[in-house]
Amino acid sequence: MRATIASGVAVAVLAATAAIAHEGATGAVKVRMDSMKAIADDMKLIGRGLRGGDLDPAAGRDAAERVARHAGMMPMQFEEATVEPPSEARPVIWEEFDRFAAIAGELETAALAFAEQAAGGADSDVLQATFRDMGGTCSACHEDYRIEK
Ligand code: HEC
Repeated sequence: MRATIASGVAVAVLAATAAIAHEGATGAVKVRMDSMKAIADDMKLIGRGLRGGDLDPAAGRDAAERVARHAGMMPMQFEEATVEPPSEARPVIWEEFDRFAAIAGELETAALAFAEQAAGGADSDVLQATFRDMGGTCSACHEDYRIEK
């Protein structure tokens, strides 16, 4: 059961990564895309560690703290209402900016919780559940605010 959940999150993260096509991005769009890419890399690192049952506590904490930092910057990174190609952002972001920022806030909160749990040597079910919360925010936000390519 646990393995199913973990691999479900991993699949979602991989699918997000497979869609990466941000060559040619500049300015605000590049900053956002690079940040999302960094988040995806750290999610993969954590997902691999949880699946293998050998997540290094310090590495897990550091990765989750990086994710939290990027999530905390999201509202600022999306301040400029641009969807210049190759951006995959949907213009509705700027009509529902509070909700968009709230989802980013949920990711930040879950990532900080994960960092604390990982550093404190929490049980794998606890870590899996928090990792699932983190992953849930990716899909929640992408579903409404990112164009699937
Ligand atoms: C609050 C909204 C939000 C959250 C939360 C969020 N994303 Fe994104 N993500 C976006 C938007 C919007 C884009 C498209 C940005 C653009 O192209 O301008 C995007 C793009 C991406 C991309 C593509 C980047 C590229 O170079 O093309 C990846 C990968 C990604 N997100 C991974 C993740 C992962 C993994 C998570 C969760 C840990 C996550 N995102 C959480 C909104 C979000």
